[in-house]
Amino acid sequence: MEYRKLGDSELEVSVIGYGCWAMGKRFWGDDVDDEESIRAVHRALELGITLFDTADVYGMGHSERVLGEALKGHRDEMIIATKGARVWDEETLEVTGSDISAGHMIKACNDSLARLGIDCIDLYQVHTSYEGAPIEECAEALVNLQQEGKIRYIGVSNYSVPDMQRHIATAPLISLQPPYNMLTRGIEEEILPFCIEHNIGTLVYGPMAQGLLSGKYREGATWPESDMRHNSPRFQGEQFERNLAAIERLKAIAQADGKTVAQLAVAWCLNQPGVTVALCGVKRPSQIEETAAAAGWKLSDDELAQIDCIITETGAG
Ligand SMILES: NC(=O)c1ccc[n+]([C@@H]2O[C@H](COP(=O)([O-])OP(=O)(O)OC[C@H]3O[C@@H](n4cnc5c(N)ncnc54)[C@H](OP(=O)(O)O)[C@@H]3O)[C@@H](O)[C@H]2O)c1
Repeated sequence: MEYRKLGDSELEVSVIGYGCWAMGKRFWGDDVDDEESIRAVHRALELGITLFDTADVYGMGHSERVLGEALKGHRDEMIIATKGARVWDEETLEVTGSDISAGHMIKACNDSLARLGIDCIDLYQVHTSYEGAPIEECAEALVNLQQEGKIRYIGVSNYSVPDMQRHIATAPLISLQPPYNMLTRGIEEEILPFCIEHNIGTLVYGPMAQGLLSGKYREGATWPESDMRHNSPRFQGEQFERNLAAIERLKAIAQADGKTVAQLAVAWCLNQPGVTVALCGVKRPSQIEETAAAAGWKLSDDELAQIDCIITETGAG
């Protein structure tokens, strides 16, 4: 495994981060099993993965509870990252909005600590900003949580450059968690350069575009209604066909280096300037075994150029 320092912190994190969203058992189909999730976490530890990312909203607490079970006896080997901000209805379990007021963030952090069964969260992240979000109030509340010893470092997710500027005027910030993969490049123009300039580490999410770039899907693939890919444009109709055509050509690049297209997708992220960690979603041990092997793969300029060319020529997105 390869390790990198996360922003301006003392955390040395594995470049492959373990994404615990599917572990929550909502929005990812019907094939997630708690025992298998725990086995996958333990396999990840054997592979040298140290960073585990969850959120209170993943399965409305379920992901944090399962990770809390998995970390028993392993706490010292793990860097635990979680997030708060989302609000949901306890009866319907539907997300109703976001709230980063001090009151909400303090309660959300305390609830996460209880579900995880730990005294201190290594990286506590604001899950999202929104129109009218009280960013300074939230940043101050997080500094207070840090002073109380409940969180070690502060991170944010889905923040724009102006949001981060407001945050860092009030509180330290070691990391940003944005979406990023070969097909989703919105952060390249402003956000990654800003993070490089301010020594903010990045944990990019969705490196395989929700599994699309794992290369396992074929034409005519369908997803159950309980899986968010059921309605995602990237997985439907002509766009899906264009994406599959790109993946076939990407496979040739991966195979030439003795790798899989899933590993190529993850390594591509890790080869981009400003990216510290690729957060890979996992349902079972075999998946993390495959993606972990993307660490340390240095792609050549020629390979990077070929990938850009394939995406442009096929219209993948
Ligand atoms: N901050 C945010 O707003 C935010 C948003 C999204 C995600 N995240 C974080 O980022 C993590 C990763 O993102 P993601 O889960 O959306 O996307 P991803 O890593 O691109 O895709 C994960 C999915 O791909 C499939 N997969 C993974 N490894 C595979 C392998 N080796 N072979 C075949 N299929 C494989 C699995 O689903 P199937 O087996 O069903 O195909 C898995 O659930 C999340 O778990 C979460 O921690 C954060």
